[in-house]
Amino acid sequence: MRQIFKWMAIGLGSLVIIAGIAALVLYSLGRSRLNRTHEITAAAISVDDNAETVERGKHLVEAVVACGECHGEGLHGRAFFDEPAIGTVVSANLTGGEGGLAGAYRDEDWIRAIRHGVDPSGKPLLVMPAQHFQNMSAADLGAVIAYLKTVPPVDNVPPATKLTPLTYILIALGQFDNNIPADTINHSAPLPEAPPEGATQAYGEYLVSIATCRECHGKELTSGQAGPGQPIGPNLTPSGNLGSWSQADFFRLIRTGQTPTGRQINDFMPWHYYRQMTDVELEAIWLYLQSLEPAATPVNLSASE
Ligand code: HEC
Ligand code: HEC
Repeated sequence: MRQIFKWMAIGLGSLVIIAGIAALVLYSLGRSRLNRTHEITAAAISVDDNAETVERGKHLVEAVVACGECHGEGLHGRAFFDEPAIGTVVSANLTGGEGGLAGAYRDEDWIRAIRHGVDPSGKPLLVMPAQHFQNMSAADLGAVIAYLKTVPPVDNVPPATKLTPLTYILIALGQFDNNIPADTINHSAPLPEAPPEGATQAYGEYLVSIATCRECHGKELTSGQAGPGQPIGPNLTPSGNLGSWSQADFFRLIRTGQTPTGRQINDFMPWHYYRQMTDVELEAIWLYLQSLEPAATPVNLSASE
């Protein structure tokens, strides 16, 4: 009898040790994945500081690409995600103040961070949604960078991002691939052409592709989720609620965060930024959303109205 217990104890003990070693190996694989550098030659993009270009960049940053959603309204960086099980994810201070990177950043560093999701040393940036910003045209990216260089400096030294050992293990297992864009995007994709600005379906498609809508509403806009535990981004094709909305209902949602029934939506949907889009931009997006193939099965997981 004793002998059996002894062997069971040894067996269990070895299992624990093996599991421990596996966890350690995965943990260090996860860490080294975030330290792996990408060799990227930034495309040559002209960053012109004339007033009109800077104004265009300001509008894109404040209303469309919404950098402030994660970097804070003054773009001074902040801890925008904090879950004890996962860790704290901190965004960078984009200004020229103390703790900010604008002073040391060259144009190519901006291009690499925004289009490729890597820092100046080539290391992947966590969560920074380069896979969407990669859709910006050369002119729009140049305008965004021109504007960023004029943002008033804010002194703020953001704390370091801190991930739990479990998160490094999950990173090694590929569970967070979507949050490490540098590892999955095509770094040699050519700079796309933007369709002419106007209230057209094509321009709406362009705006949707750079405004990160697909991060939360799904690749095909048939509903999605930005990450585990995050609110569901509903189906935006005509088989969702939008199928029975008017253009005015859509404008009201984006400008006030209110649905046709008067419900105030979750602030996780960045309407505080999008509300600054022009009528032409909103109409373009509306036309594009209306043109989508209705998702075959209703996939709207949010409360139906
Ligand atoms: C969904 C959240 C999110 C949005 C939106 C976002 N960022 Fe970031 N960004 C981050 C996070 C998080 C980091 C820090 C990543 C890290 O430290 O690994 C970051 C890092 C950066 C860095 C690099 C810092 C470095 O270490 O060199 C730059 C530059 C940057 N962002 C610019 C922008 C610009 C410009 C926009 C708008 C066009 C933008 N970001 C929009 C989350 C975001
Ligand atoms: C950070 C995540 C996120 C991003 C980015 C985002 N959304 Fe949303 N959106 C949501 C969530 C979550 C809801 C549901 C909120 C609620 O009902 O309380 C929502 C709701 C909506 C609704 C209302 C739909 C309905 O059926 O009630 C519309 C319309 C919408 N979003 C359009 C857009 C468009 C267009 C973009 C891009 C310009 C966009 N969203 C980007 C998260 C996001």
